[in-house]
Amino acid sequence: MFSILRPFLFNIDPETAHDLAIKSLKFNPLPSKMFEVEDEQMLKIHLLGKNFPNPIGLAAGFDKSAEAYNSLLRLGFGYVEVGTITPLKQFGNPKPRVFRLKDDYALINRLGFNNDGIETIKNRIKSDGKKGILGVNIGPNKETKDQKNDFCLGLKNFFDIADYITVNISSPNTEGLRDFHDQEKLKDLLLALNKIKKENKTDISLLLKVSPDIEDNHISEIVDVATNNDIAAIILTNTTNVNRDNLKSEFKKEKGGLSGEPLQQISTNMIKKFYKQLNGKIPIIGVGGVNSGKSAYEKIIAGASLLQLYTGFIYRGPSTAKDIKKELIQILKAEGINNIKEAIGKDV
Ligand SMILES: Cc1cc2nc3c(=O)[nH]c(=O)nc-3n(C[C@H](O)[C@H](O)[C@H](O)COP(=O)(O)O)c2cc1C
Repeated sequence: MFSILRPFLFNIDPETAHDLAIKSLKFNPLPSKMFEVEDEQMLKIHLLGKNFPNPIGLAAGFDKSAEAYNSLLRLGFGYVEVGTITPLKQFGNPKPRVFRLKDDYALINRLGFNNDGIETIKNRIKSDGKKGILGVNIGPNKETKDQKNDFCLGLKNFFDIADYITVNISSPNTEGLRDFHDQEKLKDLLLALNKIKKENKTDISLLLKVSPDIEDNHISEIVDVATNNDIAAIILTNTTNVNRDNLKSEFKKEKGGLSGEPLQQISTNMIKKFYKQLNGKIPIIGVGGVNSGKSAYEKIIAGASLLQLYTGFIYRGPSTAKDIKKELIQILKAEGINNIKEAIGKDV
């Protein structure tokens, strides 16, 4: 069905196609059984105190305002991360702000955290409930005077609804956000968030989402702050500002974050570097160009315990999670591996 619809969807503006997808997903009548695969138990993994049915998650940014996550879970994803959610509703940058780089299996976006804001989204999640594992990704408003306080508001509002909270310091489209990669600034932010956890007597997992554009010497600093400040997992990576020269598409010089295949190797290399330095202390969630069983497996053997994807879903459509699960199981069988856990970091 998607292969019939794809030429039509790819002919309309990417953001309009996305809005259409969210609207139709809200009415997705397909049962989750349709997206389960044979031997799926090989992909089960226990992490962050949760039982993930499989490691293929939908990355933040697709369901920014938590309108369709239950339906997305029914498409066979092991978990879904909604957001980035900011305290106040915001419209983001002027359009056009999402570009399809078809020949490169990539996207460039400079959306700038368009979302409905904490209050509306919190009520939406409360009323819709959760049919699986739900992560909530939080960030600051563009016009805020205090980015740290915006993160604190995100945590305060979602710690008792979400299965985990992602602290997003890595989107390239919000000014000053990536400054939180600085050791002192990051420490200060995590201290404030852990104080809120303590005051509210919650042990919700805090995840940190990192940029692929950091220098190597920053890795040990981030590892150090994360391990000393109760970070439950590190998400590697967000979109990149670089790697444009070899792209084929006319949109390659558009300002914004690049995702999809051109990010694949960059993020896998980053996973390997973090995995070595983390020494098993904190698990990694691998993101960036996952679009097949092979690319998923490469990230797992590089050190990722869970995965996420966004751009691959745009190019492969509703059966993405199912197809990747099938392909991944085939690879595991060929390698003589019984459960995904055995493959984590095998290549490092
Ligand atoms: C259109 C678009 C919007 C995104 N919005 C967000 C966001 O709001 N918050 C966030 O943490 N990441 C966001 N991302 C980044 C993705 O979550 C992911 O880290 C990145 O796209 C790399 O994965 P991929 O190559 O599978 O797309 C966005 C990505 C795209 C393509």
